[in-house]
Amino acid sequence: MMKLQDQVAIITGASSGIGLAVAKRFINEGAKLGLLVRTEKDAEMLNETFGDKVIVTIGDVRNYSDNEKLVESTVNKFGKLDCFIGNAGIWDYMSAVNTTDAKLLESGYRELFDINLLGYVLGAKASLAALKESKGSMIFTASSSSYSLGGGGPLYVASKHAVLGFIRALAWESAPDIRVNGVAAGGTLTPLSGPSSLGLEDANLETSDGIEEMIGAMTPLKFASKPEDHAGIFALLASREDGKYMTGAVILSDGGIGLGMRPDQK
Ligand SMILES: NC(=O)c1ccc[n+]([C@@H]2O[C@H](COP(=O)([O-])OP(=O)(O)OC[C@H]3O[C@@H](n4cnc5c(N)ncnc54)[C@H](O)[C@@H]3O)[C@@H](O)[C@H]2O)c1
Repeated sequence: MMKLQDQVAIITGASSGIGLAVAKRFINEGAKLGLLVRTEKDAEMLNETFGDKVIVTIGDVRNYSDNEKLVESTVNKFGKLDCFIGNAGIWDYMSAVNTTDAKLLESGYRELFDINLLGYVLGAKASLAALKESKGSMIFTASSSSYSLGGGGPLYVASKHAVLGFIRALAWESAPDIRVNGVAAGGTLTPLSGPSSLGLEDANLETSDGIEEMIGAMTPLKFASKPEDHAGIFALLASREDGKYMTGAVILSDGGIGLGMRPDQK
């Protein structure tokens, strides 16, 4: 029996990286999906890959109306919503407060927080009524940067610490009807980009020079993860059987990065 048979889930940022790996896993577990992407090209790719098991909405997580459209189109097509997965995000490429011009810092902060935090807040808000009806759940992609340092600059680390607080406070507020959990990924080889206001819209984490070795070196398990390495944790949290008693939980999938290095390791 598949874990997510006949469950309906939404995933934001579904055209690449962790979002795409979770989409594949959920489809393999029997789910139907509403997916949010930014471009027509991404929508076509997902429609070709998943066919009638998905409905794709083009939009921006920073707009409440796009989040509403996403939820409406999903519920209209599949009749209900069981799980909302907030995942779309950007990185700050270690931009430093010390060396970034103040105006750029302000616009970079606003863009990064609007996508990484406001996007989750608006997605949660738009999906609340449908999830209350189904007694469903939400899952948000957090990060090792929700707990510890080394995986981003102050802006990114602050945004992912904020995501942790948001998950916990929303879980408390939404109980007993809706479970709210998170997955804190560590260094993952994805095309994660950065704020356009910092000139980083075309940056790509997985093709950055030496990134795989750098993540491996700073991670106790000694390798950089792939998006699919995290996907089963989302399936566990979404499962009404396996995740039944879990809310406010953020599961670390970080290769032990938050543990720091042993004295015998460099
Ligand atoms: N890659 C890592 O090392 C890592 C580690 C921990 C957490 N994360 C988190 O994982 C999540 C997914 O990132 P990823 O690494 O898979 O990278 P990714 O770039 O493959 O995925 C992010 C997705 O978000 C989408 N997106 C960006 N801005 C958007 C907006 N305004 N509206 C709608 N969609 C938007 C992008 O189009 C992209 O598909 C992010 O929240 C990221 O912070 C990544």
